[in-house]
Amino acid sequence: MSNRAPIAVALDAPNLETAARWAGLVTPYVSTVKIGLQLYLRYGPDAVDSIRGASGVKVFLDLKLHDIPVTVAGAARAVARLRPAILTVHAAGGAAMIKAAIQAAPQTSIAAVTVLTSLGDDDLAAIGMARSASDAVRRLALMAVEAGARGLVCSPNEVAAVRAEVGPEITLITPGIRPAGTDAQDQARIATPEAALMAGADLLVIGRPITGAPDPGAAAAMLGAALRRLAATPGT
Ligand code: C5P
Repeated sequence: MSNRAPIAVALDAPNLETAARWAGLVTPYVSTVKIGLQLYLRYGPDAVDSIRGASGVKVFLDLKLHDIPVTVAGAARAVARLRPAILTVHAAGGAAMIKAAIQAAPQTSIAAVTVLTSLGDDDLAAIGMARSASDAVRRLALMAVEAGARGLVCSPNEVAAVRAEVGPEITLITPGIRPAGTDAQDQARIATPEAALMAGADLLVIGRPITGAPDPGAAAAMLGAALRRLAATPGT
């Protein structure tokens, strides 16, 4: 593992100044920063430019696109020129939509969001998905990979099962990360960073446990060091 841990810090800030400050504090320790809807809808491409800065950190644009294929293709093309390393679409948009995004942004890794980590089985039943979250995740993951997605977003609880379905080449990205003893907040399907990594995740999305800490830089450094220790432990 390099000096930068396989963590994408979710910069869910109300304004660009705060997000850029967080990014400056964490980029020495993490590989990736994640710009989501809150920041992108307010500042657009400027958010990507000022967050990326000169740090060389990878930008994960988490726009979770979900529309008819032609509209998603247009949206993916529009943001491809910002050179995000990763762009998300909702797997539930279907295979044609996922393919359209991939074709429109060939230099960007398109990651398909399976089932939001804030949803539990009861929530899924309420939106008409009769089977369990883990079933839905596995089904959506296979469909997305068959459509050409090279990355998948799922909860740490499903990583091992998804890995068994899709093989070693696909990048598995897991939000829903909560260090031991911290509050789940609005996340439902959660695990510790160590458990997620051991289950086979490639990139851990961590927001509030880092950005809500008194010193986000120190929190990122600590989590990164814990993951490095784990990677260095024989048998893990
Ligand atoms: O603060 P927290 O660690 O909960 O942040 C998690 C981030 O991951 C948020 O930016 C959220 O949008 C994102 N995310 C998620 N569940 C998914 C996909 C993305 O929580 N399935």
